[in-house]
Amino acid sequence: MSDGRNEIATGQSRMDDRIAPPPSFVEQANVTDPTVYETFDAEWPDCWRRAADLLTWTQSPESVLDDGGDSDGVRWFPGGRLNASENCLDRHVDAGRGDQTAIQWEGKLGETRTKTYRELHRDVNAFAAGLRDLEVEADDVVTLFMPVIPELVVAMLACARIGAPHSVVFAGFSADALATRMERAESDVVVTCDGYYRRGNAVDLLSKVDNACLSVSYETTQVVVDRLGDERYLGDHRRYCDLLAAHDGETVDPVERAADDLLFYIYTSGTTGEPTQVRHTTGGYLSHVAWTSHAVLDLEPRDTHWCTADIGWITGHSYVVYGPLALGATTVLYEGTPDQPEKDRFWKIIERNAVDVFYTAPTAIRAFMKWGADHLADYDLSSLRLLGTVGEPIDETAWKWYYKHIGNEECPIVDTWWQTETGGMMLSTLPAVDAMRPGVVGRPLPGVELAVVNGLGEELPDGETGQLVVTKPWPGQPKSLCEGTEWAQSIHLTESIDRWRYATGDSAMRHDDGYVSLLGRLDDVLNVSGKRLGTTEIESAIVAIDGIAEAAVVGGDDELRGSTVHAYVSPEANVAAADDLRTRVREGVEDAIGPVAVPTEITFTSALPKTRSGKILRRYLEAIANGEDPGDTSALRNPEVVGELESLVDD
Ligand code: WTA
Repeated sequence: MSDGRNEIATGQSRMDDRIAPPPSFVEQANVTDPTVYETFDAEWPDCWRRAADLLTWTQSPESVLDDGGDSDGVRWFPGGRLNASENCLDRHVDAGRGDQTAIQWEGKLGETRTKTYRELHRDVNAFAAGLRDLEVEADDVVTLFMPVIPELVVAMLACARIGAPHSVVFAGFSADALATRMERAESDVVVTCDGYYRRGNAVDLLSKVDNACLSVSYETTQVVVDRLGDERYLGDHRRYCDLLAAHDGETVDPVERAADDLLFYIYTSGTTGEPTQVRHTTGGYLSHVAWTSHAVLDLEPRDTHWCTADIGWITGHSYVVYGPLALGATTVLYEGTPDQPEKDRFWKIIERNAVDVFYTAPTAIRAFMKWGADHLADYDLSSLRLLGTVGEPIDETAWKWYYKHIGNEECPIVDTWWQTETGGMMLSTLPAVDAMRPGVVGRPLPGVELAVVNGLGEELPDGETGQLVVTKPWPGQPKSLCEGTEWAQSIHLTESIDRWRYATGDSAMRHDDGYVSLLGRLDDVLNVSGKRLGTTEIESAIVAIDGIAEAAVVGGDDELRGSTVHAYVSPEANVAAADDLRTRVREGVEDAIGPVAVPTEITFTSALPKTRSGKILRRYLEAIANGEDPGDTSALRNPEVVGELESLVDD
């Protein structure tokens, strides 16, 4: 602890920059035994029973892991049966905690709503009955397209209750993006809302949904929540409030699901032009997020937890909804952005709700830092016990700022690395066990095994940079990775492929103490403000625009957002690179994906740098976008284009 203080006071950085967990935290923490790593190792895979034991099973698993014998697949908790909604609701109400707040919602306009576990249970049962009215059955996929409002959580848990996997689509996505995701999952019911507020203005969501439903190739049913309060329903929409009222007070028995039955679908950006579909299981996923919420976020039922992620992303699924609710804690739902209406909004929310655990992204922390510590001077943040970060690398300066100004040097910080594909956290410190190293993530969690490998799949010595791979199964592993063939296909490595390697696409380095530093993506995935975007998806949207011949998208360095989207666009020969084309590029990307993917920079060029075999060399474009020397251009068929681009970007 004193180390940490000196560090911050003097601003010096030493090699061995470690901060011990504050004793006041350790005294009360859930996991304090330093031998937990060895025990989990020795007992693997049975160690993961501790995670499963945090849940209520209607039928206990016969074993922890069925490794598939000679087949390629694995199954977590085979024979086990459970229901996620029962785990997140009924068992807490049955334990006499029905009056505890489950959801504390903070709306965009400053409104607040509270739902106790009993109230949430009531709504979820009524809506589950409503979904059955719409003939939704187990294994039908229900699409949920809403901002962060309590009804989204109700709908998720109602789906889970009847065994219908949900597919939450981030509300900022476009009609096209929504339609693609619905079709890929053959989902014909969508629960949405009429609109939401952005910067104080009402944004229409319903017409986006209508357009999406018009473009899918089958009949759909839409259920609409009245978020704006002006009942702007059109023709055939079903009203959420009617369904709820029609079934108020009814109970729907939770449908027993096998451990590896699906709980939800989620789409993420990968290296292809199409979004990647990830399907998470009921027993494995829920055990993983419950265990990491317990061991890493240190959550207890008495805690108020605030994870600032949008529920449309995996972080929101795992640590706004399923983890905290499985453990019976209070979860804060926030619909807005950190600076609306003022830059002190987050601190108001923490003070008002006496938040214990706060989990956010480096992009937000960098913004707080830029705004300065004054904007939080008037707030009492002493309720905080633990801070977390996720989504992208956090640099040492931002880490220390977070530690000092938000945590008052009394709260441990957990820097947690994981992905949509891992379902829950994989690398972090255990906050009461491990010393913190600002800017270095931590060790693989107990029971998780990772390695850093070179392009041939060979494990690298400590201190060398390579690709992070997961070398043993983990409970939060998605269904596709449990099924052998897809697991093998997920491996981008060329040789040494063995069964238990999942290539993460991240560049990493392990230190000699086993801590791992994450250094960014190795593939064509950008991280903009902690949101994952595929460059190929954006390129496909751009080349679909009339008059555009080719496009290449790279990441520009950005202090606040991590990356920006920089598009190099080559119009067809007879098309002028004028402002209206620029506007069409922006609109094209917004329509195909959503505002989140719209390029910040668009550079028109007569040609893109290519190898003799015609492959676009993005690393030259990246260097140019970031004002760096692109280096040797002899591999290019058209080296002259680099000079042209440098002068264009300088302008
Ligand atoms: C990045 C979000 C550094 C990483 C949970 C990963 C991180 C991608 C960290 C997954 C971290 C996540 N330090 N980088 N603590 N956490 N990342 O699927 O590149 O939206 O592959 O899941 O975010 O993003 P996704």
